[in-house]
Amino acid sequence: MEPVVALVVAAGSGSRLGGDIPKALRELDGRPLVSHSLEGLAAGGVDVAVIVIAPGLDDDFAAVVAGSPIPARCVQGGAERQDSVLNGLAAIAADPDLAGARYVLVHDAARALVPGEVVRRVIAALADGAVAAIPVLPVVDTIREVTATGSATVDRSRLRAVQTPQGFARDVLERAHRLVADEGLQVTDDAAAVEALGYPVALVPGDREALKVTEPLDLLFAEAIVRSHA
Ligand code: CTP
Ligand code: MG
Repeated sequence: MEPVVALVVAAGSGSRLGGDIPKALRELDGRPLVSHSLEGLAAGGVDVAVIVIAPGLDDDFAAVVAGSPIPARCVQGGAERQDSVLNGLAAIAADPDLAGARYVLVHDAARALVPGEVVRRVIAALADGAVAAIPVLPVVDTIREVTATGSATVDRSRLRAVQTPQGFARDVLERAHRLVADEGLQVTDDAAAVEALGYPVALVPGDREALKVTEPLDLLFAEAIVRSHA
């Protein structure tokens, strides 16, 4: 079988988390967030990882690559998340060892504690023929939509919160990101790019533990989750 490749986007600065070092390198239980991510991906059946990092940080990520449970290498990201994904896809296409990969899973390094089972569900949906498969959760908060005249409750039973890794047929994801770049669209995830191309997106159950470390409070939650596993 062709290798399952993960594109781990780690080129953001983590401005909402704060601190002096890029978010992906911030430590959780003594290891960088991105290292935890690589472990979850490996546990779920990913064979090889391409990590997209900010320019000039190769030396800082060298220990992450050396300690990765699966073969990994770094490539340079871009200004927006979607630019980072596009750069990662180009690197995969240019690598003779990866050019045959049929599936690619795009994962936020910041979703450090993604359980292997979530990764496995995404890969299984692709193997079953989905062109795009993403983990989602029901929304627990009541949501209001602000309108021009006031606000209104949204029927939350129809809403889902979206996580990563998001899995795709690699050729479709490449076409989707080229469309997004050519047309100057702004998307916050990869499923939205594939949707813009007109493909359906399959949903699989996510997991609260795959939370995205975004603000300082999220790091506290992640630390508590790690402790609960010990
Ligand atoms: N990301 C990326 N390239 C960018 C921006 C974001 O690879 N130009 C990655 C981040 O490293 C992160 C993931 O996309 O793993 C999700 O983005 P987010 O949580 O917003 O991280 P940051 O952009 O780093 O954080 P902030 O928005 O608070 O600055
Ligand atoms: Mg961001």
